[in-house]
Amino acid sequence: MTNNILIKDVSNFDGKKINIRGWVQAKRTGGKVIFVTLRDGTAILQCIIESFIDSFEVAKELNLESSVILEGAVRKEDRAPGGFELSVTKVQAIYINKEDFPISKQAHGIDFLMNNRHLWLRSQRPVAIMKVRHTIIKACRDFFDENGYTLIDTPILTPGVGEDAQSLFPVKYFDKEVFLTQTGQLYLECAALALGKVYCFGPTFRAEKSKTRRHLTEFWMIEPEIAFAELDDVINVAEDMICFITERVLANNIDELKILEQDIEKLQKIKKPFYRITYTDAVNILKSEKTLEFMNEELNREKEELSQLQSEVKSIEAQLNQGVKAWKEVKLNKELKELKENIVDLERDIENKPKHLELAQNFEWGKDLGGSDETIISRMHDRPVFVTHYPKEAKAFYMKHKDVDSKVVENVDLLAPDGYGEIIGGSQREDDLDVLIEAMKANDLDPMDYDWYVDLRKYGSIPHGGFGLGIERTVAWLCGLKHVRETIPFPRTMGRIYP
Ligand code: 4AD
Ligand code: MG
Repeated sequence: MTNNILIKDVSNFDGKKINIRGWVQAKRTGGKVIFVTLRDGTAILQCIIESFIDSFEVAKELNLESSVILEGAVRKEDRAPGGFELSVTKVQAIYINKEDFPISKQAHGIDFLMNNRHLWLRSQRPVAIMKVRHTIIKACRDFFDENGYTLIDTPILTPGVGEDAQSLFPVKYFDKEVFLTQTGQLYLECAALALGKVYCFGPTFRAEKSKTRRHLTEFWMIEPEIAFAELDDVINVAEDMICFITERVLANNIDELKILEQDIEKLQKIKKPFYRITYTDAVNILKSEKTLEFMNEELNREKEELSQLQSEVKSIEAQLNQGVKAWKEVKLNKELKELKENIVDLERDIENKPKHLELAQNFEWGKDLGGSDETIISRMHDRPVFVTHYPKEAKAFYMKHKDVDSKVVENVDLLAPDGYGEIIGGSQREDDLDVLIEAMKANDLDPMDYDWYVDLRKYGSIPHGGFGLGIERTVAWLCGLKHVRETIPFPRTMGRIYP
């Protein structure tokens, strides 16, 4: 017998005796046999426990999420998930729960699930998302490691503004007030002038007062910074990196994407070249007749979908009223709950659509694109869209002015398709000492506080640039999730800091 086999490896033990450890994800009793689905974090395995084995009584005691060691023989079973099952000869409980596990097959609302995030994490969907998240982070790191970048760890505690003054989180630092970092960028620029190509990866913090699907107060960002790079070089790196990440996810996580019901063909279309438009093009699109038509088509489609969902609700309610078997009732109630949540989302979209259309059609050149504007642009494209050259007033102080007296900066935002909006923000940095100092003053920043940053423009200043990719928004996009709160193990938002 081979001990402690991981479920992902059982196919190597066809016909052999092994034991595995894990948690009972599902249990079904059928007369003289108990079917257990065991989860060990690497995969799940169907296990058959028949009444003639000595420890059948132990198997009877097992409840959901009990921990257990199962010994038995592996055999091929095409109908089982993974193609194999375990014919159990011995059941050894590690821990049998005294209370029912709070997360069951029953329908649960998102607030209940989020309050029980520490336990919800064990469910199939969060496990799948965490695996994709892992692939994405590893892919980002491999991309930079394999392309000659050096990892630089930038500080979490910072003396001043990194990105914008409105969303700083203050921290008491002995007798001073400092802030949690908003970006590693300014420090990374120092390192780029030392090492050439560098990147940082870490948590970043923004006191975002917005309760949107895209905003967390604590999120993870990977940021490269490249010496001797201009805007086009930065964009090319971003494009290559997104293609690399998407390919990795497709290579490693097809099973997870299926669990998440993600459209795999859509991801296969994420290929170079992405669209490249300027901010001014984007404004023209927003104000165009085409957008008016597009939004009206979307509105009609959403209304049709709504009435479809509503009739599904009616049909399920009718079935429930007639009375169904207990297991079917659980299943239908779960479907009903999901349908109703989708209806709420859809009704909100339908209600907001005219407002978003009005904002788009009356957009004034000079403002930053809002969330709904990004959604419109990104829904109108099937591949990611780079939007460049925003007005300088709409963006951070460090971005390079296109030319003297220019109204726009050498920046880029990458909008993911399907309405996901901005996943990357980047730019070429201002490398001219005088222009930088003027820009700081215009942003109410005292250049004296940024002496060290200004020094980079005094000693061997060079054109350079980089970007930041938000991990959570990328996970949401590639997994097809509605909200970033599911993309991180323990989300932090304006309304949530528990568990
Ligand atoms: O566009 P941002 O603010 O760019 C920077 O911080 C630059 N200093 C990066 C650089 O050039 N090195 O943020 C970059 C990305 C966004 O595109 C988005 O994906 C993510 O970080 N992001 C957030 N993700 C979740 N919640 C929030 N509140 C986020 N704010 C930004
Ligand atoms: Mg941005």
